[in-house]
Amino acid sequence: MASNDFQPLQGMSDISAPNIYIWRMIEEKARAIFTCYGYEELRTPVLEKLSVFQRSIGDATDVVKKEMYSFKPSKHEIAMRPEGTAGTIRHLAGQGEEGLNARVFYIAPMFRYERPQAGRKRQFHQIGVEATGVPNPLADAECIALQKHLLDEWGLSGSRIQISTRGEPSDRKPVADGLRSALQPHLDDLCDDCQRRIDENVLRVIDCKNPSCGKIVDQIPSAIEFMSEESRNYLDQVIQALEGMGIEVEVDPKLVRGLDYYVHTVWEITHGALGAQNAIAGGGRYEIALGKKGVPGVGFAMGMERVITSLEACGITADQFAPEGGIWLISLGADALTENMKLCRELRAKGIRCGMDLEAKSMKAQMRKANRVGAEKVIIRGEDELANGTVVIKDMNEGSQNTVSLEDIIRDA
Ligand code: HAM
Repeated sequence: MASNDFQPLQGMSDISAPNIYIWRMIEEKARAIFTCYGYEELRTPVLEKLSVFQRSIGDATDVVKKEMYSFKPSKHEIAMRPEGTAGTIRHLAGQGEEGLNARVFYIAPMFRYERPQAGRKRQFHQIGVEATGVPNPLADAECIALQKHLLDEWGLSGSRIQISTRGEPSDRKPVADGLRSALQPHLDDLCDDCQRRIDENVLRVIDCKNPSCGKIVDQIPSAIEFMSEESRNYLDQVIQALEGMGIEVEVDPKLVRGLDYYVHTVWEITHGALGAQNAIAGGGRYEIALGKKGVPGVGFAMGMERVITSLEACGITADQFAPEGGIWLISLGADALTENMKLCRELRAKGIRCGMDLEAKSMKAQMRKANRVGAEKVIIRGEDELANGTVVIKDMNEGSQNTVSLEDIIRDA
């Protein structure tokens, strides 16, 4: 077999022990915090009709235009979800009034056919929330506060929250017109992509990573300046509510999220450990049209791979969350093997991590295995112990060894 027969597809990873321990820590803490904030878990299918993503994320976005894994097995074209918001809102919109005032979270794999690089994968994982309900700056602020709570609980320091606004849908035209006319005198100095984008989607010029475009964007008024007073007030109220909770944010008018469903508040959380793909999380308020309904909501998604890279840079690593050593049972002879099976079952029923070799092996081989699995204690049983109703218990750290009754072991375990 060629060695790449053992590799997953490009841009995808197996997640195995010991790395899995940090994934589990993140998920367990997140679930506990979501419960405190009144969020229920939602698991939607990986596959949806392609139209679910087209109509919410937007036909013209990179995610829909270039990055979807889609195919047509029968009548409908279907796609693997590139993000969690579209499917969540598809579900909630079908739940009647309750769905329009709901709080749900998801922890799930997402798929984008992007060029793989550090921090950018084709299968990645998001922890996200969506809270439906009419626009309210306090709901947006609470959502950001929840995210900050997660980061603190995981132990992540050094992240930055950048916030901006996309304004109301009615702001789109004045913003686009205003930016276009401000950019017009600098047209020749923009990169080739931006010369095209200025007509197609001028916000992408604001977002351009090319330094010469960045310099021009710094000279012109920001998109926010072309918005209505109501939209600017909305953002101010979100920022004030966050300040009231002691959460610092930076206003970054250049922040343009790459998904079309956003209205009003948008934000990203970045971390210095990440290099070019530095966003740990993105979120915002949105209005997603489904049939005749427009579903308003606010939410965020955090990229788990990027959270983990940032945590590692803060010295928080998977081995810190590995299961404790547990007990290894050593059996000398066939009868001890049978009796130890029973003892193992009783200890496990009490929630104790324990194990044993399931075939007769030498004492030396069994001790070697106990060391390899990192057992804290070893229980040894042979003919004498069986006859006396005792076990020999050895503390692997201290090296001390005692004979105790079987009853005591089960009772004190
Ligand atoms: P997004 O900014 O596209 O937003 O993705 C959120 C996060 O997912 C990013 O900040 C990043 O950490 C992670 N991510 C995205 N693409 C990749 C990739 N190719 N490889 C690794 N990580 C990646 C959304 O998905 C929105 N649905 C967020 C949202 C929820 N807005 C409102 N509600």
